[in-house]
Amino acid sequence: MSDAAEQDFLIKPIAGALGAEIWGIDLSQVDLPQANRIREAFNRYHVLVFREQTLSPSQQKKFAEQFGPLETHPYITGLEEAPEVVPIIKERDEKINFGGGWHSDMSFLSRPPLGSLLYALEVPEYGGDTLFSNQHAAYLALSDTMKSILGDLKGLHSAASQYGRGGDSEKRNYGSMKLEVSDQAHQLVEHPVVRTHPESKLRSLYVNRPFTESIKGMKMPESDALLNFLYRHCEQERFTCRVKWEVGTLTMWDNRIVQHYALNDYQGQRRHMNRVTVEGDAPR
Ligand code: SIN
Repeated sequence: MSDAAEQDFLIKPIAGALGAEIWGIDLSQVDLPQANRIREAFNRYHVLVFREQTLSPSQQKKFAEQFGPLETHPYITGLEEAPEVVPIIKERDEKINFGGGWHSDMSFLSRPPLGSLLYALEVPEYGGDTLFSNQHAAYLALSDTMKSILGDLKGLHSAASQYGRGGDSEKRNYGSMKLEVSDQAHQLVEHPVVRTHPESKLRSLYVNRPFTESIKGMKMPESDALLNFLYRHCEQERFTCRVKWEVGTLTMWDNRIVQHYALNDYQGQRRHMNRVTVEGDAPR
């Protein structure tokens, strides 16, 4: 890597557990050396925050494509001109927000997304931050005995609670977002409870409240008890960072190693983001 590329942006960590702001880069003009360096920072910090960006949907897509092919969400309609770009909007008169609970994006897919890139177009005057939790740090904090129990387990994931019959999309009104309700959402997909990051080789917990239905081979009370313990464990403040949005902020996060939570503490105000997700591989 050239000296110029080394010096062309500044990395400022935002919390002890994960997350960094990257300053001094225009995401509409990223070249290959810069993309490589962003990828290195991504593998180290898991959540990267870029301020003061001006990105059209096609520029956001172009930047995201530096990390892999883009995903089209199976149950949410994207922009007409760019179906891979999903508007995430909460209108002033809506009460429920999208993503308002700890989760990992689309873990119900057999190949869940590598990462998500969210770009802020309109933000509330206060509130509407997003929390992120480092699932590698959460895994490391477990006892060796718990780690060895989890090592052989598989989680069964589906999109049913969100996009299935009787799920959130049917019960709640997400206003201007177009969410589908589908029988296909009930399909179960199996993933290891502890996955290994394909690039950094870090091991992390890979279960989340909306999409992990149960632990394969366990009775429901056993599975519920273990999953509830893991959820409470991995949502602890010591594993988290918090991103406060400004118009023009783009945050990218690694779904293979973090969970996130969109706070819903800005009633009566509008928040509008555009999200793009990059395809991932089968968790191992
Ligand atoms: C999401 O879950 O992808 C939405 C995150 C956010 O709106 O902050």
